[in-house]
Amino acid sequence: MNPNLKQIEHWNGPFGQFWASRHEINEFRLANVHEALMAFAAPQPGSHVLDIGCGCGWTTLGLAEAVAPGKAVGLDVSAPMLETARLNANAEKLDVDFIEADASIYPFTPEFDLVFSRFGVMFFAHPVEAFANIRRAVRPGGRLAFVCWRAFAENPWTYVPFEAGRELCPPQPLQEPHAPGQFAFADGDRVRDILARAGFRNIRIERGDVPINLGADLDEAAAASLGTGTLSRAAADLDEATRQKIRDRVRAALAPYATPDGVSPPGSCWLVGAEA
Ligand SMILES: C[S@@+](CC[C@H](N)C(=O)[O-])C[C@H]1O[C@@H](n2cnc3c(N)ncnc32)[C@H](O)[C@@H]1O
Repeated sequence: MNPNLKQIEHWNGPFGQFWASRHEINEFRLANVHEALMAFAAPQPGSHVLDIGCGCGWTTLGLAEAVAPGKAVGLDVSAPMLETARLNANAEKLDVDFIEADASIYPFTPEFDLVFSRFGVMFFAHPVEAFANIRRAVRPGGRLAFVCWRAFAENPWTYVPFEAGRELCPPQPLQEPHAPGQFAFADGDRVRDILARAGFRNIRIERGDVPINLGADLDEAAAASLGTGTLSRAAADLDEATRQKIRDRVRAALAPYATPDGVSPPGSCWLVGAEA
Protein backbone atom coordinates (compact mmCIF):
# COMPACT_ATOMS: atom_id res chain seq x y z
CA MET A 1 0.00 0.00 0.00
CA ASN A 2 1.20 3.54 -0.80
CA PRO A 3 2.41 5.04 2.54
CA ASN A 4 1.13 8.45 1.39
CA LEU A 5 -2.44 7.18 1.00
CA LYS A 6 -3.77 9.13 4.00
CA GLN A 7 -2.43 12.39 2.58
CA ILE A 8 -3.67 11.55 -0.92
CA GLU A 9 -7.17 10.94 0.46
CA HIS A 10 -6.93 14.15 2.50
CA TRP A 11 -6.06 16.30 -0.54
CA ASN A 12 -8.76 14.62 -2.65
CA GLY A 13 -11.48 14.90 0.01
CA PRO A 14 -13.46 17.87 1.39
CA PHE A 15 -10.23 19.64 2.39
CA GLY A 16 -8.85 19.58 -1.19
CA GLN A 17 -12.20 20.78 -2.51
CA PHE A 18 -12.32 23.55 0.08
CA TRP A 19 -8.77 24.61 -0.80
CA ALA A 20 -9.69 24.61 -4.53
CA SER A 21 -12.74 26.77 -3.83
CA ARG A 22 -10.54 29.34 -2.07
CA HIS A 23 -7.62 29.35 -4.47
CA GLU A 24 -7.73 33.11 -5.13
CA ILE A 25 -7.83 33.98 -1.41
CA ASN A 26 -4.94 31.61 -0.78
CA GLU A 27 -2.92 33.18 -3.57
CA PHE A 28 -3.46 36.65 -2.10
CA ARG A 29 -2.35 35.33 1.31
CA LEU A 30 0.84 33.79 -0.05
CA ALA A 31 1.82 36.61 -2.42
CA ASN A 32 4.83 37.68 -0.32
CA VAL A 33 6.06 34.09 0.05
CA HIS A 34 5.73 33.62 -3.69
CA GLU A 35 7.81 36.70 -4.42
CA ALA A 36 10.54 35.56 -2.00
CA LEU A 37 10.60 32.03 -3.45
CA MET A 38 10.73 33.23 -7.07
CA ALA A 39 13.68 35.50 -6.22
CA PHE A 40 15.42 32.62 -4.42
CA ALA A 41 14.71 29.99 -7.13
CA ALA A 42 15.53 32.37 -10.01
CA PRO A 43 13.89 30.36 -12.84
CA GLN A 44 15.72 31.09 -16.08
CA PRO A 45 14.11 31.88 -19.47
CA GLY A 46 14.22 28.84 -21.77
CA SER A 47 14.43 26.33 -18.92
CA HIS A 48 12.22 23.34 -18.14
CA VAL A 49 10.65 23.49 -14.67
CA LEU A 50 8.70 21.03 -12.52
CA ASP A 51 6.38 22.36 -9.78
CA ILE A 52 5.83 19.67 -7.12
CA GLY A 53 2.58 19.81 -5.14
CA CYS A 54 1.43 22.57 -7.49
CA GLY A 55 -2.10 22.65 -6.05
CA CYS A 56 -4.34 25.04 -8.00
CA GLY A 57 -1.47 25.85 -10.35
CA TRP A 58 -0.79 29.53 -9.71
CA THR A 59 2.87 28.88 -9.04
CA THR A 60 3.11 26.76 -12.21
CA LEU A 61 1.61 29.59 -14.25
CA GLY A 62 4.05 32.08 -12.70
CA LEU A 63 6.90 29.73 -13.57
CA ALA A 64 5.61 29.30 -17.15
CA GLU A 65 5.74 33.07 -17.63
CA ALA A 66 9.20 33.31 -16.07
CA VAL A 67 10.77 30.52 -18.17
CA ALA A 68 9.09 31.27 -21.55
CA PRO A 69 9.92 30.04 -24.18
CA GLY A 70 10.76 27.16 -21.81
CA LYS A 71 8.09 24.99 -20.23
CA ALA A 72 6.53 24.47 -16.80
CA VAL A 73 4.89 21.27 -15.59
CA GLY A 74 2.83 20.97 -12.39
CA LEU A 75 2.42 17.71 -10.49
CA ASP A 76 0.02 17.03 -7.64
CA VAL A 77 -2.02 14.24 -6.04
CA SER A 78 -5.21 16.32 -5.69
CA ALA A 79 -7.74 15.90 -8.51
CA PRO A 80 -9.96 18.84 -7.41
CA MET A 81 -7.00 21.19 -7.12
CA LEU A 82 -5.61 20.09 -10.51
CA GLU A 83 -9.01 20.67 -12.08
CA THR A 84 -8.83 24.28 -10.85
CA ALA A 85 -5.23 24.49 -12.08
CA ARG A 86 -6.26 23.45 -15.61
CA LEU A 87 -9.09 26.01 -15.63
CA ASN A 88 -6.65 28.71 -14.46
CA ALA A 89 -4.16 27.78 -17.19
CA ASN A 90 -6.88 27.91 -19.87
CA ALA A 91 -8.11 31.28 -18.60
CA GLU A 92 -4.54 32.66 -18.72
CA LYS A 93 -3.94 31.01 -22.14
CA LEU A 94 -0.70 29.47 -20.90
CA ASP A 95 0.69 26.22 -22.25
CA VAL A 96 1.47 24.15 -19.14
CA ASP A 97 1.04 20.46 -18.39
CA PHE A 98 -0.44 19.13 -15.18
CA ILE A 99 0.14 15.57 -13.99
CA GLU A 100 -1.91 13.83 -11.29
CA ALA A 101 0.65 11.72 -9.43
CA ASP A 102 2.45 11.10 -6.15
CA ALA A 103 5.87 12.80 -6.44
CA SER A 104 7.45 10.18 -4.19
CA ILE A 105 6.91 7.35 -6.69
CA TYR A 106 6.30 8.97 -10.11
CA PRO A 107 8.72 7.51 -12.71
CA PHE A 108 10.64 10.75 -13.43
CA THR A 109 13.28 11.10 -16.12
CA PRO A 110 16.12 13.65 -15.72
CA GLU A 111 14.62 16.41 -17.86
CA PHE A 112 14.12 19.40 -15.56
CA ASP A 113 16.54 22.30 -15.02
CA LEU A 114 14.68 23.31 -11.87
CA VAL A 115 12.41 21.38 -9.52
CA PHE A 116 10.38 23.90 -7.55
CA SER A 117 7.78 23.74 -4.78
CA ARG A 118 5.81 26.17 -2.67
CA PHE A 119 4.73 24.26 0.44
CA GLY A 120 4.19 21.02 -1.54
CA VAL A 121 6.94 18.74 -0.19
CA MET A 122 6.19 18.37 3.55
CA PHE A 123 3.63 15.58 3.16
CA PHE A 124 5.73 12.48 2.38
CA ALA A 125 5.57 9.50 4.78
CA HIS A 126 9.18 8.62 3.80
CA PRO A 127 10.86 11.91 2.87
CA VAL A 128 14.35 10.55 2.09
CA GLU A 129 12.96 8.04 -0.41
CA ALA A 130 10.60 10.68 -1.82
CA PHE A 131 13.41 13.20 -2.39
CA ALA A 132 15.63 10.49 -3.90
CA ASN A 133 12.83 9.92 -6.41
CA ILE A 134 12.35 13.66 -7.02
CA ARG A 135 16.10 13.95 -7.65
CA ARG A 136 15.61 11.65 -10.66
CA ALA A 137 13.62 14.46 -12.30
CA VAL A 138 16.59 16.85 -12.23
CA ARG A 139 18.90 16.88 -15.24
CA PRO A 140 22.67 16.89 -14.59
CA GLY A 141 23.58 20.36 -13.33
CA GLY A 142 19.95 21.12 -12.44
CA ARG A 143 18.59 22.50 -9.18
CA LEU A 144 15.96 22.05 -6.48
CA ALA A 145 14.32 25.09 -4.82
CA PHE A 146 11.40 25.03 -2.41
CA VAL A 147 9.84 26.82 0.52
CA CYS A 148 8.49 25.21 3.70
CA TRP A 149 7.21 26.66 6.97
CA ARG A 150 9.41 27.14 10.01
CA ALA A 151 7.89 26.15 13.39
CA PHE A 152 4.28 26.92 14.32
CA ALA A 153 5.42 29.20 17.17
CA GLU A 154 7.53 31.19 14.67
CA ASN A 155 4.43 31.91 12.56
CA PRO A 156 2.15 34.45 14.28
CA TRP A 157 -0.21 34.48 11.25
CA THR A 158 -1.47 31.05 12.39
CA TYR A 159 -0.21 30.91 16.00
CA VAL A 160 -1.96 34.13 17.17
CA PRO A 161 -5.48 33.13 15.98
CA PHE A 162 -5.02 29.64 17.43
CA GLU A 163 -3.98 30.96 20.85
CA ALA A 164 -6.89 33.43 20.82
CA GLY A 165 -9.43 30.67 20.26
CA ARG A 166 -7.75 27.73 21.97
CA GLU A 167 -9.61 28.01 25.30
CA LEU A 168 -12.96 27.60 23.53
CA CYS A 169 -11.85 24.59 21.44
CA PRO A 170 -11.67 20.95 22.50
CA PRO A 171 -8.19 19.84 23.66
CA GLN A 172 -6.01 19.18 20.65
CA PRO A 173 -3.92 15.99 20.29
CA LEU A 174 -0.18 16.59 20.48
CA GLN A 175 1.33 16.63 16.97
CA GLU A 176 4.30 14.38 16.26
CA PRO A 177 6.71 17.09 15.00
CA HIS A 178 7.98 15.11 11.99
CA ALA A 179 4.61 13.68 10.91
CA PRO A 180 3.69 14.59 7.32
CA GLY A 181 1.98 17.97 7.40
CA GLN A 182 2.30 21.73 7.30
CA PHE A 183 5.15 21.99 9.87
CA ALA A 184 6.96 18.70 9.17
CA PHE A 185 10.02 20.58 7.83
CA ALA A 186 10.23 23.16 10.61
CA ASP A 187 13.65 21.84 11.67
CA GLY A 188 16.10 23.11 9.07
CA ASP A 189 18.82 20.64 10.17
CA ARG A 190 16.43 17.77 9.53
CA VAL A 191 15.63 19.13 6.06
CA ARG A 192 19.35 19.34 5.29
CA ASP A 193 19.86 15.76 6.47
CA ILE A 194 16.91 14.46 4.39
CA LEU A 195 18.21 16.14 1.22
CA ALA A 196 21.79 14.95 1.80
CA ARG A 197 20.62 11.38 2.35
CA ALA A 198 18.51 11.64 -0.82
CA GLY A 199 21.69 12.49 -2.78
CA PHE A 200 21.42 16.29 -3.12
CA ARG A 201 24.53 18.43 -2.62
CA ASN A 202 25.41 22.10 -2.11
CA ILE A 203 22.35 22.40 0.12
CA ARG A 204 21.47 26.00 1.02
CA ILE A 205 18.86 26.85 3.66
CA GLU A 206 17.93 30.48 4.29
CA ARG A 207 15.37 31.93 6.62
CA GLY A 208 12.65 33.91 4.86
CA ASP A 209 10.47 36.20 7.00
CA VAL A 210 7.47 37.68 5.21
CA PRO A 211 4.10 39.09 6.31
CA ILE A 212 1.11 36.86 5.54
CA ASN A 213 -1.92 38.88 4.50
CA LEU A 214 -4.97 37.28 6.14
CA GLY A 215 -7.51 39.69 4.67
CA ALA A 216 -8.41 43.26 3.87
CA ASP A 217 -9.82 43.91 7.37
CA LEU A 218 -10.20 42.22 10.76
CA ASP A 219 -13.54 40.57 9.86
CA GLU A 220 -11.99 38.97 6.78
CA ALA A 221 -8.87 37.93 8.69
CA ALA A 222 -10.89 36.33 11.52
CA ALA A 223 -13.08 34.47 9.01
CA ALA A 224 -9.96 33.30 7.14
CA SER A 225 -8.40 32.01 10.38
CA LEU A 226 -11.51 29.93 11.03
CA GLY A 227 -11.53 28.80 7.38
CA THR A 228 -8.11 27.18 7.04
CA GLY A 229 -5.16 26.49 9.32
CA THR A 230 -4.66 25.15 12.82
CA LEU A 231 -7.54 27.03 14.45
CA SER A 232 -9.99 25.93 11.76
CA ARG A 233 -9.15 22.27 12.43
CA ALA A 234 -9.53 22.74 16.20
CA ALA A 235 -12.86 24.57 15.84
CA ALA A 236 -14.31 22.40 13.06
CA ASP A 237 -17.05 20.73 15.14
CA LEU A 238 -18.09 23.67 17.33
CA ASP A 239 -21.54 25.26 17.20
CA GLU A 240 -22.02 28.65 15.56
CA ALA A 241 -22.37 30.55 18.87
CA THR A 242 -18.96 29.31 20.06
CA ARG A 243 -17.42 29.98 16.65
CA GLN A 244 -18.71 33.55 16.84
CA LYS A 245 -17.04 33.99 20.26
CA ILE A 246 -13.80 32.67 18.77
CA ARG A 247 -14.15 35.01 15.79
CA ASP A 248 -14.46 37.97 18.20
CA ARG A 249 -11.38 36.89 20.15
CA VAL A 250 -9.37 36.35 16.96
CA ARG A 251 -10.43 39.75 15.67
CA ALA A 252 -9.08 41.39 18.87
CA ALA A 253 -5.86 39.34 18.84
CA LEU A 254 -5.13 40.26 15.21
CA ALA A 255 -5.86 43.98 15.70
CA PRO A 256 -2.15 44.88 16.25
CA TYR A 257 -1.39 43.51 12.77
CA ALA A 258 -4.01 45.59 10.91
CA THR A 259 -2.51 47.94 8.32
CA PRO A 260 -4.10 50.05 5.56
CA ASP A 261 -3.06 47.25 3.15
CA GLY A 262 -4.59 44.41 5.16
CA VAL A 263 -4.13 42.34 8.30
CA SER A 264 -0.59 41.00 7.96
CA PRO A 265 1.01 39.12 10.87
CA PRO A 266 4.56 37.84 10.38
CA GLY A 267 5.25 34.47 8.75
CA SER A 268 8.53 32.57 8.76
CA CYS A 269 9.78 29.99 6.24
CA TRP A 270 12.84 28.14 5.10
CA LEU A 271 13.97 28.80 1.54
CA VAL A 272 15.76 25.62 0.53
CA GLY A 273 18.04 25.16 -2.47
CA ALA A 274 20.20 22.22 -3.60
CA GLU A 275 21.92 20.70 -6.61
CA ALA A 276 21.19 17.20 -7.86
C1 LIG B 1 -0.11 23.31 1.08
S1 LIG B 1 -0.62 22.77 -0.50
C2 LIG B 1 0.35 23.83 -1.53
C3 LIG B 1 -0.23 24.01 -2.91
C4 LIG B 1 0.48 25.01 -3.80
N1 LIG B 1 1.87 24.65 -4.03
C5 LIG B 1 0.38 26.40 -3.23
O1 LIG B 1 1.39 26.91 -2.73
O2 LIG B 1 -0.71 26.98 -3.26
C6 LIG B 1 0.24 21.22 -0.63
C7 LIG B 1 0.05 20.52 -1.94
O3 LIG B 1 0.88 19.35 -1.97
C8 LIG B 1 0.16 18.32 -2.61
N2 LIG B 1 0.75 17.01 -2.24
C9 LIG B 1 0.70 16.39 -1.04
N3 LIG B 1 1.34 15.20 -1.10
C10 LIG B 1 1.81 15.08 -2.38
C11 LIG B 1 2.55 14.07 -3.06
N4 LIG B 1 2.93 12.95 -2.45
N5 LIG B 1 2.85 14.28 -4.37
C12 LIG B 1 2.46 15.41 -5.01
N6 LIG B 1 1.75 16.39 -4.41
C13 LIG B 1 1.43 16.24 -3.11
C14 LIG B 1 -1.27 18.53 -2.12
O4 LIG B 1 -2.22 17.88 -2.92
C15 LIG B 1 -1.38 20.05 -2.18
O5 LIG B 1 -1.83 20.50 -3.41
